[in-house]
Amino acid sequence: MMFGAVEQLLREKIGLDSGTVGLSVIRHALRERMSACQISELQDYWQLLAGSPSELQELINAVVVPETWFFRDREAFTAMTRHARARMRPGQPIMLLSLPCSTGEEPYSMAMAMFDAGFGAQDFKIDAVDVSTGNLAAAERAVYGRNSFRGDFLEFRGRYLEAAEGGLRPEVRVLKQVRFRLGNLFDPAASYGPAPYDIIFCRNLLIYFNRNLQDRALVCLKTLLAPDGLLLVGPAESGLPILHGFASARLPMAFAFTNVEPAKAPRMVAPSKSRFGPATPAPISDVSKVLSPIRPASSNAAKVERSVHPSERAAQSLASVERTANAGRVAEAKELARTHLGEYGPSAEIFYLLGLAQDAEDARSEAIQNYRKALYLEPRHQEALAHLALLLRKQGDIAGAEALTGRLGRIGKRSGT
Ligand SMILES: C[S@@+](CC[C@H](N)C(=O)[O-])C[C@H]1O[C@@H](n2cnc3c(N)ncnc32)[C@H](O)[C@@H]1O
Repeated sequence: MMFGAVEQLLREKIGLDSGTVGLSVIRHALRERMSACQISELQDYWQLLAGSPSELQELINAVVVPETWFFRDREAFTAMTRHARARMRPGQPIMLLSLPCSTGEEPYSMAMAMFDAGFGAQDFKIDAVDVSTGNLAAAERAVYGRNSFRGDFLEFRGRYLEAAEGGLRPEVRVLKQVRFRLGNLFDPAASYGPAPYDIIFCRNLLIYFNRNLQDRALVCLKTLLAPDGLLLVGPAESGLPILHGFASARLPMAFAFTNVEPAKAPRMVAPSKSRFGPATPAPISDVSKVLSPIRPASSNAAKVERSVHPSERAAQSLASVERTANAGRVAEAKELARTHLGEYGPSAEIFYLLGLAQDAEDARSEAIQNYRKALYLEPRHQEALAHLALLLRKQGDIAGAEALTGRLGRIGKRSGT
């Protein structure tokens, strides 16, 4: 009974969903706090909790998952610098937000990547927000051990970090770019700085929420992001923004989304060409071809249509399905996808888009089937892998989800991301 009340309190305060994170995590945090307070009865701890904001903060500190490391999902940082370059305005720094920032590895990596891309200290500002005072204290102390450095891409250590007692610390010029704040994604009164932000990293937080709270979180993020801003989420969260009017930036392994009217969104990459390698921006002329509307197959228009190469028509048709899905017109997107299948035959991309539309309607088993078909045709289809992993996780198939996430990671490593 009391345990249920604690569970509910954590859900209300920080969005933590016991169904997703597992009851054992909450039990473990409770045991830790009760022992620290020398309380043996849950009832007594509940009374303390109800009247003590500082104890609630301690419980939050104990229950959150702080897992993070430098340059986690490297391609996200490339997407960030590319977007920042496109948004440079004289005299106005690019505004970046890391929410949640955990123990600081993410925002410090953002600063290093911005310096590497040629930005000066005055060209950008990073706000870093987290709900855990413990994590923020560690972020401000900024001394990092082995766990914070994973993967093969570690040469940044020699350039930006220096030895400190107990580990390595980012140089002062990196530290100075980041301003840490205590804040809660769900707290409308929280001040994150002079929003809107050009770029928001909100990675590996949404996975701990249930569907309702994920929806609320994305609404909050939308209000914090500039109209043409870029949102970066974690690999297992990449199915969510598209349900809230964001459009995929189509940068492999970056899990990046633009906050624009989908029909107006410039595609950074032509579809299906660069899925497996580092993204290369498509020339503007190619992009506009891909985005141009499909003409009705009649009269003069049909003649023009017939003169277009079939592969280009198929690409246009795919782009149209995707635009429609991005615009939230799910039934129409499904219809267009089926027409496309009839006309151009099966392809990984169309099964993926059909899965996406079904995902948006919460038709999970159909979506899973279509993601699987996409992967049958293209085993390294990264978006299909990420979305399928998310769905399997939601269905409680954690082992299946983790196997897919592992596959995604290996693909990323092989393609150097
Ligand atoms: C797994 S870490 C993710 C860190 C980093 N973004 C990354 O991807 O490496 C999750 C962080 O979310 C924070 N957190 C949990 N609920 C939050 C909320 N409602 N608002 C802000 N931060 C929250 C936790 O304190 C924890 O530091």
